[in-house]
Amino acid sequence: MSEITITRTTKPGNLPDATKLGFGHCFADHMFVMDYEKGKGWHNSSIVPYDEFCMYPSAMVLHYGQAIFEGMKAFRTKNNEITLFRPQDYLSRFNRSAEILCIPQMDTKMVHEALKTLIQMDKAWVPDCFGTSLYIRPFVVATDPYVGVKVSDTYKLYIILSPSGAYYAKGFDPVSIKVEDKFVRAVHGGLGEAKTPANYAASLKAQVEAQKEGFTQVLWLDAVERKYIEEVGTMNIFFKINGELITPALNGSILGGITRRTVLELARHWGVKATERAISIDEVYEANAKGQLEEVFGSGTAAVISPVGELSWKGQKIVINNNQTGPFAQKLFDYVTGLQYGKVEDTFGWVETVAKL
Ligand code: COI
Repeated sequence: MSEITITRTTKPGNLPDATKLGFGHCFADHMFVMDYEKGKGWHNSSIVPYDEFCMYPSAMVLHYGQAIFEGMKAFRTKNNEITLFRPQDYLSRFNRSAEILCIPQMDTKMVHEALKTLIQMDKAWVPDCFGTSLYIRPFVVATDPYVGVKVSDTYKLYIILSPSGAYYAKGFDPVSIKVEDKFVRAVHGGLGEAKTPANYAASLKAQVEAQKEGFTQVLWLDAVERKYIEEVGTMNIFFKINGELITPALNGSILGGITRRTVLELARHWGVKATERAISIDEVYEANAKGQLEEVFGSGTAAVISPVGELSWKGQKIVINNNQTGPFAQKLFDYVTGLQYGKVEDTFGWVETVAKL
């Protein structure tokens, strides 16, 4: 691996109170940076103090959005070890997003090593309360100073670290979700599968309207028929109907969540039938009318497992499991967080210890 140049901060920040952490407001002392230039490849890896950075106002990312990001987490276990959860899976997805956005492939092993070095330096920033973690945000932006539309020849990759609490203020309590029937997030053949800012920009208007109406998030339907369920935007979605776990199949317009994969693998390991297929909103409402809709929950890195207590579609509200967390969502939450916080033995090879305090 090429050498990483390390510059330590001379002004270490104050560690936050882990009991009061929100999501994504606070940042650790250091960040990783690497450059890309056509003909030269990825080079100049360094760890530097977390700070503002310079970019030309003409930098292509600011105009045409050629950018990708990831979201992963480091945890502090009960034995004061710092662990990562499925890091190579996240980094492979990072490269898949890069491919979709015409961004040059990265050496995921190198980025993984760099991430470990960064976390070892900032390990004190991994908070120590259950439900908190060090949220890791790798991202790549196009930096060519040019206002024509093309693929950039230069990029910067950053990794920043944010000690964080629960993504939803409600924590693990059931959320209320609006099934979006006006706006759409992504279409087949578009960017939906990529972790790219455009998908999140596309979600804002619907999100604002839904929040005004008292909902936590929106559930996206397919952009053509407004019928088939896609995802929530910050999480994938699961339905437990008549004992079977069902989630929309990855069709190109849905993000392939790592927590989604974890849920499917765990369900199958526990002998629960878990199916990836197209599922329409009518089917969900019909299952509810027949008393077969047992649970609905979301899965995501930031949100972990998030039970859904209410769905509202075209003004018709359904209440799921009496607006209580269901037993399967609870079992998954306990198991996944158990693995992450070192309370459950990792028989899957998903947890990697990267530092000790
Ligand atoms: C994640 O779950 O890590 C996400 O990327 C969701 C969000 C914070 C954008």
